[in-house]
Amino acid sequence: AALAGCSRPVDGPGTGELLASDLPLPGRFQVPLPVPPVARPVRVTADTDHYLVTQRVARVELIPGTTTEIWGYDGVFPGPTFRGRRGRRMVVTVRNELPVPTSTHLHGGVTPAGSDGFPTDLILPAGYSPAPPGHHGASGRHHDTTRDYTYPMTQRAATLWYHDHRMDFTGPQVWRGLAGLFLITDEVEAALPLPRGDRDLPLMICDRSFAADGSLKYPQRDMTHPGADGLFHAGIFGDVILVNGAPWPRAEVPAVRHRLRLVNGSNARRYRLSLSAGTITQIGSDAGLLSAPLPREDVLLAPGERSDVIADFTGLPAGTEVTMTNTLGEGPTADVMRFVITGPAADDSRIPATLATPETLDRTRAVAERRFDFRFGGGRWTINNQPYDPAATICSVREGTVELWRFTSDFHHPVHVHMAHFQVLSRGVNGPEPGDAGWKDTVDVRPYETVQVLVDFTGHRGRYMLHCHNLEHEDMAMMANFDIV
Ligand code: C2O
Ligand code: CU
Repeated sequence: AALAGCSRPVDGPGTGELLASDLPLPGRFQVPLPVPPVARPVRVTADTDHYLVTQRVARVELIPGTTTEIWGYDGVFPGPTFRGRRGRRMVVTVRNELPVPTSTHLHGGVTPAGSDGFPTDLILPAGYSPAPPGHHGASGRHHDTTRDYTYPMTQRAATLWYHDHRMDFTGPQVWRGLAGLFLITDEVEAALPLPRGDRDLPLMICDRSFAADGSLKYPQRDMTHPGADGLFHAGIFGDVILVNGAPWPRAEVPAVRHRLRLVNGSNARRYRLSLSAGTITQIGSDAGLLSAPLPREDVLLAPGERSDVIADFTGLPAGTEVTMTNTLGEGPTADVMRFVITGPAADDSRIPATLATPETLDRTRAVAERRFDFRFGGGRWTINNQPYDPAATICSVREGTVELWRFTSDFHHPVHVHMAHFQVLSRGVNGPEPGDAGWKDTVDVRPYETVQVLVDFTGHRGRYMLHCHNLEHEDMAMMANFDIV
């Protein structure tokens, strides 16, 4: 079996092939940066905030002058931003009014298994269900058109995101818009003098391609079987870079510190992000704050990864254009967005020398070692030579223990583990990189590289999964279940 359009430069955009848009690409740095709406609870009880979100088809203007049909949580893309607080439970009821089944995963969430968005725990389309309209059956029951997801919110402050996770169809369903941000705060973070309000900007970066009529373009080929040409997909790259759903947007900002929560929501594309002026200091990783701020020249983000950074524009003169670029892109995909400095302003934020006091996992705590090999073979993307079987289990681990997991790979595979957060112990022969710091849930594993991580299985028991977060690899079976017992 052959692999479509695939190469493996270690510092390239990742594993995938470019799908070119058929419409003229929009101008860069014209569209104002949108900020997704913040979800409001529909009901608040003593210890729980209840939310309702409806997945539906909507027409929105992503590209100026044309409309695009999306599948969005509440009909927007990205979906509404959830803002939660450690210690306050959240229950999110998702109603499916799309023409297809869905499943919602909170990426980075320390979530009970029944609410984790398992790929076959489907919410059926409302229009196709025997249930009467408005029916809201037993919580979380299968074969329902709504589902309650319970998030205990026992985890540390972090920038998470949520997205569709339907088996075999995650790539096309996320591409159509089923993704949004989920921000958690806690007492430690709230006490830090970090930039707040409109100086705390979530930036979800996704590449997309558009057909001539403005619709989102995605291959018609069935991801689970080779096309007529016998080729398998390596991953899909778009040629339009969207930030919060807008192509190459611009944001007018005062010359002060801003917190940028960078989220790579792309199906397959990796980014190496930098700013043409000002400085970047990383304060957080996927699953929480770092112990101390880390000055960065640039930030590498594989699909699914997040980086929480402070961009310092202090002292830049009014009118300065600060471009966020992607050195792994070419042509239009080398640009991401632009900040335009409006002028000086008061700024009482600081980057404190100590952010949080995360525990450092020690190798001696690992009670077991396992190897997971991510590889193309037998016409599939596989883990340890096995394509995904929703009924199978690759291993059982004990709740509350730490294990050493070793990931090896043939191409670029961003490896994601559900429920459990991990710390990177080693990468190749040169050791961890700055971007490997802190609590992670997704790690960029590069061609022919071994990455060792210490995984903390404290949280919940049940069936969870690990998988490649290149969504086309995921849909082509690069997933495995594990049990926490
Ligand atoms: Cu963000 Cu199992 O995925
Ligand atoms: Cu992969």
